[in-house]
Amino acid sequence: MATVTFDKATRTYPGAERAAVDKLEIAIEDGEFLVLVGPSGCGKSTSLRMLAGLEDVNGGAIRIGDRDVTHLAPKDRDIAMVFQNYALYPHMTVADNMGFALKIAGVAKTEIRTRVEEAAKILDLTEYLGRKPKALSGGQRQRVAMGRAIVREPQVFLMDEPLSNLDAKLRVQTRTQIAGLQRRLGTTTVYVTHDQVEAMTMGDRVAVLKDGLLQQVDSPRNMYDRPANLFVAGFIGSPAMNLVEVPLTDGGVQFGNSIVPVSREAIAVAADKGDRTVTVGVRPEHFDVAGGQATSLANDEPAGVAVTVNVVEELGADGYVYGTAEIGGEQKDIVVRVGGRQVPLKGDVLHVVPRPGETHVFSTSSGERLSD
Ligand SMILES: Nc1ncnc2c1ncn2[C@@H]1O[C@H](COP(=O)(O)OP(=O)(O)OP(=O)(O)O)[C@@H](O)[C@H]1O
Ligand SMILES: [Mg+2]
Repeated sequence: MATVTFDKATRTYPGAERAAVDKLEIAIEDGEFLVLVGPSGCGKSTSLRMLAGLEDVNGGAIRIGDRDVTHLAPKDRDIAMVFQNYALYPHMTVADNMGFALKIAGVAKTEIRTRVEEAAKILDLTEYLGRKPKALSGGQRQRVAMGRAIVREPQVFLMDEPLSNLDAKLRVQTRTQIAGLQRRLGTTTVYVTHDQVEAMTMGDRVAVLKDGLLQQVDSPRNMYDRPANLFVAGFIGSPAMNLVEVPLTDGGVQFGNSIVPVSREAIAVAADKGDRTVTVGVRPEHFDVAGGQATSLANDEPAGVAVTVNVVEELGADGYVYGTAEIGGEQKDIVVRVGGRQVPLKGDVLHVVPRPGETHVFSTSSGERLSD
């Protein structure tokens, strides 16, 4: 087991104008499960491959524990990688697939056998040890790929979208198994996915990348509650946070007929940039549906924003209303979570008020978070 440090690690592919991964800085703790997430092409696999030694590092350093591995060969790094396509050897049995790396490393036969049987037990693969990969289900193949990594007892597991070949239901089961397994083994793990739900449910911490640049590293809870910028705000959470551009005012910003409080400093920061607007974010579950009764301080209009219901998604326990609202003279799409027992109809008008303390304010120009 060991810590993993990306110390301004940079990878620029030959002929590329800008770095695929630019000065990546993450300090991963011993035993931590860190998830790298972001849209396609943001540099997740490149980051992982730099750590694996499969990609040159053009700037900065990578350390495993206190060993500088920046220019070390992959085999000398004491890591094991699980790929998206598993890459099992089709002509070998499950047991031989799992033990192959140990055999190459010259580990004694009896030792290999012990480790393979142990891993098979953990992964529920004991009865399949004599089979060839083609006689296994997708989920079982995935577990063999995990087994191949486990038997090596590495300091770090690296996983690049290991669940993307599985159907939706199996993916959910398997992600729980992998997270549980990692916690039991306590092996430091760097896990890549483009699926933010997977990231949020599996990671001790989540690192969000965009265009090769780290946006935020945080616990899933903090990532959700205090996204550092507009990109993270829109990327993490499903349905996504409502983000609406509104004019700057003194002491707060107007969201429909409600005032969203914003600190003076935050407004000053925005004004200093020459911004005339800020972007307010409200998660779908952070609206109170006020009916027609509540009134705002300023006039007799109902408080908040009038949302005309276009589509209702009923999920049983709750539901999502997809509607439109006029905010600042423009029609905006708004998503509101409602209780499953009081679902409105298409065409209804809901008056929704952002719950105090549950709003987010971002600089429209730089995207950075302005509210606390
Ligand atoms: N071998 C390569 N040569 C040149 N450019 C590359 C190479 N591999 C990746 N890139 C570029 O580097 C950037 C990051 O790619 P990377 O594979 O790390 O993205 P990713 O986040 O893993 O995406 P995905 O979710 O699609 O797997 C992309 O713009 C990609 O086109
Ligand atoms: Mg990738």
